[in-house]
Amino acid sequence: TMKKITILIGSLRKHSLNRQLADMAQAALQGKAECVVFDPAEIPLFDQDHEFPAPEKIKRMRDAIHESDGVWIFTPEYNGQLPGGLKNALDWLSRPLKENDPDWKDTAVWGKKATMSGVGGKNATKSVQEQLLSLLKFMGMDVMTQDRAQIAMSPQTMETSDLALTEGVHEAIDAQARAFLEFLK
Ligand code: FNR
Repeated sequence: TMKKITILIGSLRKHSLNRQLADMAQAALQGKAECVVFDPAEIPLFDQDHEFPAPEKIKRMRDAIHESDGVWIFTPEYNGQLPGGLKNALDWLSRPLKENDPDWKDTAVWGKKATMSGVGGKNATKSVQEQLLSLLKFMGMDVMTQDRAQIAMSPQTMETSDLALTEGVHEAIDAQARAFLEFLK
């Protein structure tokens, strides 16, 4: 049966390399998983004064995740850390669905399976992925730690913003897609 995967992208820009990596992942998952994609442009800034009822866009993201078998995050690293927009989306997702809910595990993501990938400079997003790993665990997510694509963009990719000009990228994302489908079984 087809799996359902929610994709979260950490970059807003149109020619984002991380968005291109997410596109490659979706191509690798073709016929095996249905994907819904969210990027930070859709997510209002978290505000505890306007948490209940949650904004429509937040509800949509939470519903998509609720209906998904897993979440796959594609993110660059900004100054060795999580881009603000992605952190904002994850803060929303970490919060309870109902007001005054004594069960702090009653979120859209608690117990959900997750994986992550990233394209960046020399460090290949290793630093942000370690932070993301601990953040997702804090939020109760079940993270696949093996087969995480950590892509260092080639000089050609840097010049052209074309991710396909980085060697090994398709192989890495295909391997992760296979591993994640297995992890979701
Ligand atoms: C970057 N970049 C970057 N790269 C990296 O490997 N380590 C880092 O710490 C940073 N820091 C950083 C900060 C900020 C504010 C920006 C805008 C960029 C470069 C980054 O990897 C590159 O711009 C990617 O192409 C961004 O990802 P998208 O938008 O192409 O997906």
